[in-house]
Amino acid sequence: MGGLTNELTSFIKFAKAIDARNSCNGKHSERVAKLMVDFAEHLAFSREEINLAYLSGVMHDIGKIGVPEIILNKPARLTKREFAIVKRHPGVGAEMLSGISGFEKIAEAVRYHHERVDGKGYPYGLQGQRIPFLSRMLALCDAYDAMTTIRCYRKPFTSDRALGEIAQLSGTQFDPEISREFTSIVVDSQGV
Ligand SMILES: [Fe+2]
Repeated sequence: MGGLTNELTSFIKFAKAIDARNSCNGKHSERVAKLMVDFAEHLAFSREEINLAYLSGVMHDIGKIGVPEIILNKPARLTKREFAIVKRHPGVGAEMLSGISGFEKIAEAVRYHHERVDGKGYPYGLQGQRIPFLSRMLALCDAYDAMTTIRCYRKPFTSDRALGEIAQLSGTQFDPEISREFTSIVVDSQGV
């Protein structure tokens, strides 16, 4: 991708501004992007792939521009209708990104970041390896950050508890091999 162009810098600022609309979990996308970089480095990705991993993390929820703040910040369970609105955000984000030259892979990662390997995710219900690799990485980084940071309606989980949840959901929500790799980097970063 060769260095950050002005257009790209503006896009990153825009993605961070969308994130800031979530009053309970601001800077989530920045933290997910950092986890994606650590993960990509651990998996020995090339410099260009590490860039893609970073940008996919920053941009993954950009489609939430279409979700009203009252839903984003609702401190209670969403109604069926509200959840249907939330479920549109991967597709909306992918459409926003897919027209930009060089962003095709990022758009693809964003489009599938809420799919689950058992096919019970959204919006398409794709299964296993049909879900792009970057999206399967994103699913883990996204969930880990969501669990370990404060939300409107609950206290953060400890890292150990979050890794326990990930282990339980490995093979259903998360790709088992990618879950194992992710867990090993979190454990290594804690110096355990
Ligand atoms: Fe999302």
